Amino acid sequence: MKVGNKKFTTIWYEDDAVKIIDQTLLPFKFKIKKLKTINDFFLSIKNMCVRGAPLIGVTAAFGLALSIKRNSSIKNIERSYEKLLSARPTAVNLKWALDLVFNSIKQMPDEKRWLKSINLAKKIRSQDINNCKKIGLHGLKIIKEKYLEKKSVINILTHCNAGWLATVDWGTALSPIFSAKQNNIPIHVWVDETRPRNQGALLTAWELKNARVPYTIVVDNAGGHLMQSGKVDLCIVGSDRTALNGDVCNKIGTYLKAIAAFDNGIPFYVALPVSTIDLNLKEGVSNIEIEERPGIELSKIRSTTNKFSKIYFDGANVSNPAFDVTPAKYITGLITEFGLLKAKTSEIRKIKTLKNV
Ligand code: MRU
Repeated sequence: MKVGNKKFTTIWYEDDAVKIIDQTLLPFKFKIKKLKTINDFFLSIKNMCVRGAPLIGVTAAFGLALSIKRNSSIKNIERSYEKLLSARPTAVNLKWALDLVFNSIKQMPDEKRWLKSINLAKKIRSQDINNCKKIGLHGLKIIKEKYLEKKSVINILTHCNAGWLATVDWGTALSPIFSAKQNNIPIHVWVDETRPRNQGALLTAWELKNARVPYTIVVDNAGGHLMQSGKVDLCIVGSDRTALNGDVCNKIGTYLKAIAAFDNGIPFYVALPVSTIDLNLKEGVSNIEIEERPGIELSKIRSTTNKFSKIYFDGANVSNPAFDVTPAKYITGLITEFGLLKAKTSEIRKIKTLKNV
């Protein structure tokens, strides 16, 4: 996607290093960061310089490859795998990408491992771009259909940031929106602020502004009211982990939006590459580890000059679960790179290529 006049992706390999956009500074500062050591990769995921399930996976694949370049012994590779895997617990793409790289090189002679792993990391990256683009085209059909029926601006509500910044390019939930814009379908996006880290207000709104898509930021609790007032035509969100029965784990607050959409008869779609499907999970509600992030993310807020101000009194008790699970029964459909699926086991199992890059 373009930033100013220049085209960017969120991650690329250049001059023996991996380059990322530091998302903790956006949209106030646009800074490219170089990652070389295993610690650089671990911290960039843990501290959310890169974030969003697909991008976390791609970053981990590059991290493991670069670690192999430094030391291709199986002992080092296993240590690096475990370290990267521990960076964040919820998005399954992290394990998915690490497993792909690890399994492809573990039986090889040491000296062949680096080339194989870096090529695979590059392939995972480019595949993510293709998949997200396809998700956009499949989602476009849904928006187009709604437009043909309504014949006026389509209002779409989204939560968190599932745009190009959460992937390598295009995004998941925002990809159909970018495609609709390119196809001159009139759209407007309700952007949930997404407390506490404000991925909606900071990242999604910035992406939409850059792409000249009309948008309005709302507080997280506004969605129900907007839906009751007839101001939302459809919801599209992303996924960090999808169970085989179609339950979807996404940013905290997604579940409440899905219930409100269900109550108001508004279609609720989840856009996801199949790399977010966890083949080991029959259902999601009771089985997914929900990341608990530091309470300070709630009690302090970042200003445009990157200074943090206290907004609670000292010592206030807080809890900061970062994700929740939306049961499949509230989901109208899953928009994947293979097309639209129902959020149910028989449909999800149909995708035979799940494990392939
Ligand atoms: O905590 P984050 O910012 O990594 O959470 C991101 C989300 O919840 C996204 O909606 C999800 O990863 C889908 S992104 C394509």
